Amino acid sequence: MRRQQYREAVWMLCAILLCLSDWSAAQISYSVSEEVDKGTVVGNLVKDLNINAQQLEERGFRIVSGYSKKYFEANLRTGALFVNERIDREELCPNSPKCSLNIEGLLSHPMNIYRIEVIIIDINDNAPSFLEQIHVFNISESSSSGERYPLPIAQDADTGSNSVKTYKLSPNEHFSIDVSSGEHGVSAELVLQKALDREKQPIIKLTLTAVDGGKPAKSGTMQILVNVIDVNDNTPAFSKSLYKVRVRENVPISTTILKLNATDLDEGPHSDIRYSLMKRGNVNSAGKFTVIPESGEIIVNAKLDYEESNAYELRVQATDQGASPRSGYSKVLVEVIDVNDNAPEISITSLMSPVKESAEIGTVVALVTVTDKDGGQNGLLSCKIKDSVPFTLKSNYKNYYSLTVGGLLDREIVSEYNVTITATDEGSPPLYSTAVITVQISDINDNTPRFPEANINIYVRENSKVGDIITRTTAEDADATENAKLTYSLMDNYPKDFPISTFVNINSE
Ligand SMILES: *[C@@H]1O[C@H](CO)[C@@H](O)[C@H](O)[C@H]1NC(C)=O
Ligand SMILES: *[C@@H]1O[C@H](CO)[C@@H](O)[C@H](O)[C@H]1NC(C)=O
Repeated sequence: MRRQQYREAVWMLCAILLCLSDWSAAQISYSVSEEVDKGTVVGNLVKDLNINAQQLEERGFRIVSGYSKKYFEANLRTGALFVNERIDREELCPNSPKCSLNIEGLLSHPMNIYRIEVIIIDINDNAPSFLEQIHVFNISESSSSGERYPLPIAQDADTGSNSVKTYKLSPNEHFSIDVSSGEHGVSAELVLQKALDREKQPIIKLTLTAVDGGKPAKSGTMQILVNVIDVNDNTPAFSKSLYKVRVRENVPISTTILKLNATDLDEGPHSDIRYSLMKRGNVNSAGKFTVIPESGEIIVNAKLDYEESNAYELRVQATDQGASPRSGYSKVLVEVIDVNDNAPEISITSLMSPVKESAEIGTVVALVTVTDKDGGQNGLLSCKIKDSVPFTLKSNYKNYYSLTVGGLLDREIVSEYNVTITATDEGSPPLYSTAVITVQISDINDNTPRFPEANINIYVRENSKVGDIITRTTAEDADATENAKLTYSLMDNYPKDFPISTFVNINSE
């Protein structure tokens, strides 16, 4: 402001000095504002040139000039110099702070030449204007406050105080304007006041106004467009901090079980996400699943087995494609659902066979354990004997059973039982398995040897030779082995002095 005032003061001083020097060279100087109406009187030649008014007409006073237009004319009657054409200072003296028209007044008989200078005074008839309608700045969202960006300069054809005096910026959150006036006029810079955030506002529209110093002032505007350039300042975020998925253990390989979804508020490669599984945590999970990097689909990579592992915890990572990539993390819990794919197993832990046929009811014959690799319902078991046999199965504890004697045994009727045990689980459909326990019944000596007949009548001729076989007989015993091995003997129920052994003998075998 002070510099401008100073400059105006210097300018006025120069004008006065010029006027004085011209005066001494017999030249007159007038001034008139541009754009005044035709007929506006600039000055009185009669008075200022010191000529008799009558002489003007008599001596044929004329105004001559080198301009194509006759800007001024003189009234020969009154001596008034008046404006004859529209005067546009900006057209006559473009880009010049000083503007004057030089004309001459001619008197003939004798010839007199008067040089007349008319200074054209600027009026504020032009508004400031910008060359562009719109100016674009690309400013990174990482720019720090205080950074400056030179703004376009406005032109104003007027001069002095009627030229551009200041700039204004539309109210906004992020930028202020810093106006400075130098030797070459007034300029302005955009100053970042508050950090930008592309994710909040990617484009900022501002209006720049140039105002001149005329009274009243005129102004011109243009648009300033700030494109906020993305930096990778956001981390990919998963839609959930924990994903849960339930999968049947017989799920085919290559099945997609889950689709991860992470988003990144940045744009372009800064928001282009690649998914990966992190190689840590549950060792077994490494080969069981894979993730498609682009889509985030988690795929079964190997056969699952509930009996091997009923759950997997995966750590997943989403990484953007920025030059300095950022990563976000989440967890996936894969719960494996048991499928009834294992039949029960029956094992005979001890077998007390053979069992004596005299064994009492309740005598333990075998210990049986049943197991099922499946879990839940699929691993719940019931255990039964299939056919009706004189044995019962008693549960000792959970899946531990004992096979006991449940009825009368008689080796002579049934010497061996094949006891079929069936174990069934509660899956749907249920799976079962069977085991056969062969129980041998051992003999006890519970049967008496029996002869086919109670009496055998033998007729023997007298004088038979000693050693002649007179008859054969065989007794039977239902028992087995030793208990069925017979020795024969004669029962001597004859008088003592005449024992039967004195005349017949029996081979004990
Ligand atoms: C991912 O999540 C975002 C926001 O939660 C949602 O707009 C978008 O549709 C989701 N994409 C997919 C593929 O599920
Ligand atoms: C028991 O099973 C065995 C083997 O299958 C067979 O040899 C035997 O004859 C069976 N015993 C009975 C009494 O069925």
